[in-house]
Amino acid sequence: MSTVQVMLGNRSYPIRIRPGSLGDLGEALVSEFEAARAVAVTSKRVAALHYGALATGLARVNLALDRLLVPDGERAKTLRVASSVYDRLIELGATRQTVLIGLGGGASCDLAGFVASTFLRGLPLVQVPTTLLAQVDASVGGKTAVNHALGKNLIGTFYQPRLVWVDPDVLATLSPRERRAGMAEVIKVAAIWDADFFKWLEENSVSLLRLERTALAECVSRACGIKAEVVGLDEREAGLRALLNFGHTLGHAVEVVNGYRHVRHGEAVALGMVFAARLSERRGLAPSGTSARLEGLLARVGLATEIADLPGQRAAYLRALAVDKKGTDGALSFVVLREIGRAELLRLTPEEILAEVA
Ligand SMILES: NC(=O)c1ccc[n+]([C@@H]2O[C@H](COP(=O)([O-])OP(=O)(O)OC[C@H]3O[C@@H](n4cnc5c(N)ncnc54)[C@H](O)[C@@H]3O)[C@@H](O)[C@H]2O)c1
Ligand SMILES: [Zn+2]
Repeated sequence: MSTVQVMLGNRSYPIRIRPGSLGDLGEALVSEFEAARAVAVTSKRVAALHYGALATGLARVNLALDRLLVPDGERAKTLRVASSVYDRLIELGATRQTVLIGLGGGASCDLAGFVASTFLRGLPLVQVPTTLLAQVDASVGGKTAVNHALGKNLIGTFYQPRLVWVDPDVLATLSPRERRAGMAEVIKVAAIWDADFFKWLEENSVSLLRLERTALAECVSRACGIKAEVVGLDEREAGLRALLNFGHTLGHAVEVVNGYRHVRHGEAVALGMVFAARLSERRGLAPSGTSARLEGLLARVGLATEIADLPGQRAAYLRALAVDKKGTDGALSFVVLREIGRAELLRLTPEEILAEVA
C-alpha cells in the first residue's frame, strides 16, 4: 500500500493506493473513522463492474451499505440529479455520520463530492475513483461540481474528502480510449512539475499501456503525489494550482469547438499541451526540443498531437478563448513550459495565443 498524504491542516487526508484493494475499504472505514453506515453513489455501468467487490468488503466488517444509482458519466452532474440524491438520503435517514462514497469516474466523484459538501452541511466523503483520470486528478484536491446549462462546473464547492481509496486494478475494465485520455493528465503533472517522473514515463510507457500492475500503481502514486503537493501548497487556486491548467486553455477551446461529446477531455488536453509547448519554445521560454519530447511521449501512449484544421477554424477558437478571459486586460492566464518539469503562468490575450496560426 502506498499512501500520499494531502496536507491541508486539520482537513488533511490520505490517498491510499494498492492494486486489488477495492474489497478492503470496509476495514479502513471501520478502523480509520469508526463509520457505522455508508451510502455509495455510482452509475449502473460502474456498479455492474465494481460494486460487488466494494459491497462484499463492507459486508465483511458489518458495515451497512446502500447504493444510489445516478446516470452514467457527465449526465450525473446536474442539480436535478443532486436533488434526487438528497431525496434518497432523506428517505434512508442519513445523518452526519453517514459516509458518502463516490464510486466511479470523475463525474460520479464530482457529484458525490457536491452532495456530500451540501447535504446536512457536510457528510464525510470517501472517493473511490475508477478511471485513470479520476484516480490521478478528479478525486484529489477537493473541487466538487455540477454543470449548468450555460457551462461546465459552474456550480460547486471546495470540499475535501476524508479518504481517497485507489485500486489501480479496476482500470483493467476501462476502454483503451478512456485510459489514454487519463494518461494525458498524468503526463501533464510530470511536464509541469517533475522531470524525473517524465523520464520514468518515457521509459515505462509500454508497461503502462499493458497495464502492468507495479508500473501502473507507481504511475498513479506519483501523479497523485504531485497533484496532492500542488493542492497542499495552494488549495484555492491563488497561483500555483493554476499550473495544473497546463494544456487546458487551448484544450478547453478544442472541446468547445468540436463539441464535448466528440472529444474526450484528456484528448483535448494533450492537443492543448502540445500547442502550449510549441508557443513556449517560439517565445524563447523553453529550450528547443521541449515540445518534441512532449509530443513523443503523448504519441507513444496513443494520443493525437495535432489540432485538426486549426487555421480554418481560427475564428471559432478565438471566440472560445475569449469566453475564458479573466480580469480586465482581456488576457488569460496561460501556462507555459520553461523546460520539462517546470512551468509558469503568462498573461496572454486570445489574439496573442493564436498569433502564429494563420
Ligand atoms: N474535481 C476535479 O478536480 C476534477 C478534475 C478533473 C476532472 N474532473 C471532472 O471529471 C469528469 C471526467 O471524469 P472521467 O474522465 O473519469 O469521466 P466519467 O466519469 O464520465 O467516466 C467515463 C466513463 O468511464 C466509465 N467507467 C468508469 N470507471 C470504469 C471502469 N473501471 N471500467 C469501465 N468503465 C468505467 C464510466 O461509467 C463513464 O462511462 C468531468 O466531469 C470533469 O469535470 C474533475
Ligand atoms: Zn483536466
